[in-house]
Amino acid sequence: MSGRIQAPRGTYDVLGEDASARVALEDHARRILERAGYARIETPVFEATELFARGVGESTDVVQKEMYTLDEGSEGSFTLRPEGTAPVCRAYLEHGMHKLPQPVKLWYLSSFFRRERPQKGRFRQFWQVGAEAIGSDDPAVDAEAILLLSELLEALGCRGVRLRIGSLGTPETRRAYREELQSYLRAHEAELAEEVVARIDLNPLRAFDSDHRGTQAVMAGAPRLLDRLTDADAEHFATVCALLAAADQSYEVDDTLVRGLDYYTRTVFEFTSDALGAQSGVGGGGRYDGLIEQIGGPHTPGIGWASGVERMLLTASTLAAAPAPLDLYVAYATEEQRIAAFRLAADARRAGYAARLELGGRSLKGQLKQAGNAGARYVAILREDGTFLRDMETGDQQQVEIDTVMHHIGQVTL
Ligand code: HAM
Repeated sequence: MSGRIQAPRGTYDVLGEDASARVALEDHARRILERAGYARIETPVFEATELFARGVGESTDVVQKEMYTLDEGSEGSFTLRPEGTAPVCRAYLEHGMHKLPQPVKLWYLSSFFRRERPQKGRFRQFWQVGAEAIGSDDPAVDAEAILLLSELLEALGCRGVRLRIGSLGTPETRRAYREELQSYLRAHEAELAEEVVARIDLNPLRAFDSDHRGTQAVMAGAPRLLDRLTDADAEHFATVCALLAAADQSYEVDDTLVRGLDYYTRTVFEFTSDALGAQSGVGGGGRYDGLIEQIGGPHTPGIGWASGVERMLLTASTLAAAPAPLDLYVAYATEEQRIAAFRLAADARRAGYAARLELGGRSLKGQLKQAGNAGARYVAILREDGTFLRDMETGDQQQVEIDTVMHHIGQVTL
């Protein structure tokens, strides 16, 4: 046996400041979303592969090449969740949440898995904060969801953030538009990138995404979906925009906005940041009025978003959780006091204090230094000649009975 084992490519460990920044991020997300009536949900890390094949869409990159799939023989095929919307919709159906007052608002902070080529801001295991509002097609739900993500990004101090918004209409409009776009693309095949030509049948909308020069020139003159929306969809979109404006939310209408997942209908949106490199999408989402039917349920509208934790942290200027306070540090002079010290620290924690015991085998001097570095409010020093309690704020030290330590610190800290 030789060689050190390392974390898999595209994964990372969460340590130190990064760990506390994540705690702060989660606190902000919880505060903002729960104030708006979103309840926390957790779904399994793996699901039936078919959930994503049907929900996210066979033609997407995610389903075609990025899923981590496990074949469990007669039990079926399972996939590490590449995203959270299809699982949340599955849970909505499975638990009969249509019986609850609609829309049902759910949020999550979970990890997801995509076999992508790792680069800055792109991982194979990554985290998202997500929010889903299921059971209403009111454009106010769309506008509210967008505002909540905007509020989160602002609370985190994310820099250079821009909001783009568009509408994909209903499946019928899209179908007709798709055919129109396909004919247009076929008429210009010679000028298009090879991979765009290869996708004309499967996903012609992705042509708007291309960074190929010739394709971009062709797409500048392509028919636009926003001009083909039905009156109802156009009105829905106009209302979303009007509500965003009423809430002083700045946005740009982008009629070429393409999202990487197939379930979207009507509103789609994306927040990007200049502070990120090529992977400039911080968070995005949209409406998915057909998704629940796609996975075997009745017609149920829904809207939501997800925002990448790594990308939010990359764009956030400073995000630090306040260090946890330490009420008591228990130090001891010799091995004889070790058990009493152990007990005092355990009792203090049981009584609700943040208490720590020396565990590193340091000298008493080293322990006191450690207590100072840890920001302890009090240090109990157990010596052969008695127990001493030092107030680290004032520097005062007094001899006390060991049983009264909690009483002493309680007078100040509780
Ligand atoms: P998505 O656009 O695929 O949407 O992902 C949302 C966000 O997750 C992205 O904007 C990005 O910040 C982050 N993300 C995606 N892939 C990676 C990766 N490989 N590494 C790091 N971060 C990544 C969804 O997942 C939809 N479920 C959003 C949604 C919710 N739509 C409606 N409801």
